[in-house]
Amino acid sequence: MAKYIISGASSSFGGKVKISGSKNAALPIMAASMLTDEDTILDNVPCLSDTETMLKIIRTTGGIAERDNNNSVHISLSKPKQKKKPDYELYSKLRGSVLIMSPLLAKFGHVKLPLPGGCKIGARPINLHLKGFSAMGAKIKQGHGYVEVTCKDELKGSKIYLDFPSVGATENIMIAATLANGTTIIENAAGEPEIVDLAHFLCEMGADISGAGTDTVVIKGVSRLHKTNHSIIPDRIEAGTFLICSAATGGEIKLEGAEPNHIKPLLAKLGEMGCDYEISDESITLRPNGRPKAVDVKTMPHPGFPTDLQAQIMSLLTVAEGNGMIVETIFENRFSHIPELCRMGAKIKTEGNAAFIEGVQRLSGTCVKATDLRAGAALTVAAIKASGTSEVHDIEHIERGYENFVNKLRSLGVVIDIKD
Ligand code: EPZ
Repeated sequence: MAKYIISGASSSFGGKVKISGSKNAALPIMAASMLTDEDTILDNVPCLSDTETMLKIIRTTGGIAERDNNNSVHISLSKPKQKKKPDYELYSKLRGSVLIMSPLLAKFGHVKLPLPGGCKIGARPINLHLKGFSAMGAKIKQGHGYVEVTCKDELKGSKIYLDFPSVGATENIMIAATLANGTTIIENAAGEPEIVDLAHFLCEMGADISGAGTDTVVIKGVSRLHKTNHSIIPDRIEAGTFLICSAATGGEIKLEGAEPNHIKPLLAKLGEMGCDYEISDESITLRPNGRPKAVDVKTMPHPGFPTDLQAQIMSLLTVAEGNGMIVETIFENRFSHIPELCRMGAKIKTEGNAAFIEGVQRLSGTCVKATDLRAGAALTVAAIKASGTSEVHDIEHIERGYENFVNKLRSLGVVIDIKD
C-alpha cells in the first residue's frame, strides 16, 4: 500500500485551492441516472476511486457509464444484465453500492446485491433502506451474504418513518419512490446538502419531489423520467478539511468554488476557536489568529456538525490551547485515528463515544496508518502541522474521497511525496 511522506511544520502553508465536486452527492446521482434509458450527462463529478468503482458497478448491471473527460460522465440504463451472483469483490469496495438498489427495483422490479460490507467506522446496516422498500410493496430475501428485493407489480407510494435520519436510506427511498404508483412520504428524513442536490437532479429528470432538506420529503410518483444535464455541488467535506488545515498551520487559505452554506457548523466552530473568515457566493477565506482555542464538538445529523469532519477537527484540537471534547453520535466506531494521533504526541483519552483532548504545543512527525477515509485525512492534517517528517501509510483510503489531493496540498505549500 502506498504512503505519503510529509515534511511538517511548513510555515509556508496557505494560498488558493479549488474545491472539487462532492463524492457523496455524485454517488447517489450516478445511481439515480440509471432511472432513464436516455443518456444523462453529469458534470463536476470528482475523479476518485469511489466514483470509478460506481461507474464499473453500473456497467455490471448492463448500463452505459463512461467518463467523458476529467469531470464529466454519461450514464444510461436501458435493460438490466443482472448476474446471478453480482461480484462481491467489486460491490464491497463501496458502501455507496447499496444505492443502485433503488433504480433497479423501480425500473425492473428486481435487484439482488451482496450486502454492503461494514467498515472501520461501524456495522452500517441497511435495515432502514429495506424497511422503505418493503413499505412500498417489495419482498425482501436475505441469505448467503446477499439481499434480493422483488416487487412483481409497481412499487406503491407509502408513508415511511426512518428510526434514524439515515442519508443513504433517504436517498434510496427517494429514488425508488420517483416511479412508484402514488405518493411517498419520508418522515424523519436526512436533510444533508447531498440529499437536496439529489432531489434537484431527480426533479430535472421530471420527478415530483418537495421538502428535500427538511425532515419530511414528499415524492409523487410519475410514469417515466427523461435525461438531463446536471452539475454536482461542491464537496463540503473536502472544503472543511482544507479549512481545518489552515487553522492548524496558521496559514490563510481561500477556497474557490466552495458553498459556505454547506459548512456553517464548521465555520461557527472555527470562529469560536479564534479564526476570522470571509465568505462570498462561491468562496471562503479563512484567516487564523495564532494558536486555536479548544472547543467542544458533538457530531449530529445535518445541520449539526458533520461526522465526516470529526476526525479532522480532532487533529486541530490536539494542538489547540486548552482542553476540548468530541462526542461522536452517528457511528459507533469512528475513533480509529486516535491511537495514531497519540503516536504523534497528542494527548487524547476516550470514554465510550466521547474523546477528551488536552491541547499540546506541538506534534512530532512519525509513521502513522490511515484506517479509513476521514481518519487518513485527519492524519495528513496532523502530519502537516507536526515537526519533522511523517509517513502516512495506506493512503488508498484517502484517495477514495479527495480528488488530486497531493497536488492541491503542494499548491498550498505542503512538502509531500507519494511512495509505494
Ligand atoms: C453517508 O453514509 C455518507 N456516505 C457518509 O460519508 C456519512 O458519514 C454518513 O452518510 C452520515 O452523514 C455517502 O454518502 C456515500 P447513514 P450512510 O445511513 O448513508 C445507521 C465519508 O466519509 N443506519 O446516514 O451509510 C448507521 O449505522 C462517508 O464520505 C442504520 O442503522 O450513513 C449509522 O450509525 C463515511 N440503518 C447512522 O445510521 C440503516 O439502514 C448513519 O448512517 C442505515 C443507517
